[in-house]
Amino acid sequence: MNKVRYGIIGIGKMGHNHALRLKAGLDRNAVLTAVCDISEERRNWAKEKLKDVKIFSDYKDLLDCPEVDAAVVATPHYAHPGIVMDALNAGKHALSEKPAGVYTKAVRELNALAEKKSGQVFGIMYNQRTNPLYKKAKEIIDGGGLGELKRINWIITNWYRPQAYYDQGGWRGTWEGEGGGVLINQCPHQLDLFQWLGGMPEKLKCYLKVGVNRRINVENDVTFYTRYKNGASGIFVTSTHDFPGTNRLEIDGDGGKLVIEQNLLSERLVFDRLKVGEKEFSAANKAFMPRIPSERTVKRATMLQNAVRLGLVGQHINIFRNFSRAVLFGEKLIAPGAEGINGLTLSNAAYLSGWTGREISLPIDEDEFLSELNKRIESEKNGKISAAQ
Ligand SMILES: NC(=O)c1ccc[n+]([C@@H]2O[C@H](COP(=O)([O-])OP(=O)(O)OC[C@H]3O[C@@H](n4cnc5c(N)ncnc54)[C@H](O)[C@@H]3O)[C@@H](O)[C@H]2O)c1
Repeated sequence: MNKVRYGIIGIGKMGHNHALRLKAGLDRNAVLTAVCDISEERRNWAKEKLKDVKIFSDYKDLLDCPEVDAAVVATPHYAHPGIVMDALNAGKHALSEKPAGVYTKAVRELNALAEKKSGQVFGIMYNQRTNPLYKKAKEIIDGGGLGELKRINWIITNWYRPQAYYDQGGWRGTWEGEGGGVLINQCPHQLDLFQWLGGMPEKLKCYLKVGVNRRINVENDVTFYTRYKNGASGIFVTSTHDFPGTNRLEIDGDGGKLVIEQNLLSERLVFDRLKVGEKEFSAANKAFMPRIPSERTVKRATMLQNAVRLGLVGQHINIFRNFSRAVLFGEKLIAPGAEGINGLTLSNAAYLSGWTGREISLPIDEDEFLSELNKRIESEKNGKISAAQ
């Protein structure tokens, strides 16, 4: 095999962009050979725009196609784990869109299967892991630069979505269609990065608010608090109704502090590395209100630079390029599929805590989560606003 032959399942907003990226040759190790969509309108689009690409209406036919080596799953979230499992069982490599699924029970089954298919590459489209500032943060943390974690706080409220967004209908913003609101739709990238950079907590307590200033049944305002094995803590705040919103991540460790903040036109990482760890400094110091000597590193990425260097397509194609090299040459994946369960565990735990009022210990009770989710799907079907808050 000298190029990976991709088949994309679901060519809606995201899948059709993936198709155009591959068709434009942005990944030199990839070729688009097939697409599939249950929507005739989307297949007609493919007929017009994707010459020499096979078009299917049933994804199982795409998976049977010998000209497909790797399946990309870009359907709405509930279907991700089932289709990825079918792809792996059909002998294909599989790249899932985020989130890995809606509930961890299904994703755990997928991970167990994927583990047995060790010759097949399984990845997830966590494209924000390729953002140079988050990559730099990961490098600093993994290199021990931040020392032991004390606190991780993320305010990510710049996901502004007006009523018109929710009124477009379809699967978005419903329990049955996508399994929630801002946590499952807008935040999977940040939830993944929250655990990629800070690790998985032991406990989580969440306050969910449903339909703040919007006619929706799902949450659009969330605050959760996390506790870690070493005593560190975290806060995650998100919403879709604040304007202007904030996107600020702060991580404090014994060895310093790291902040990544995104404004409309720029994005900046500031790392203050203490010359002596805080505990060690405090033990030796005699002054009452001293400053600990530190050195500052600043890394900036303007939106314009990002648009040129990474572009709106840049982060996603980076994941494709890495995935193709993983298939062809065994390169390490930036976002292994098996890690998709981590961010989803945080969102499942946040829902469960918000619904029950309890602090949740991780791993969560997956049956309880599913039963609570199904209650909300039922009440939504009966036209009732969910009792989740
Ligand atoms: N990585 C990212 O940055 C990013 C950005 C946006 C969306 N997404 C993810 O991509 C997925 C799709 O989102 P979207 O905005 O493209 O939605 P969309 O509704 O625009 O597209 C989904 C497409 O899947 C098709 N589909 C549904 N079930 C199918 C099936 N069984 N077989 C074949 N086709 C099927 C639909 O007809 C539709 O065309 C979501 O899970 C979303 O979270 C990821």
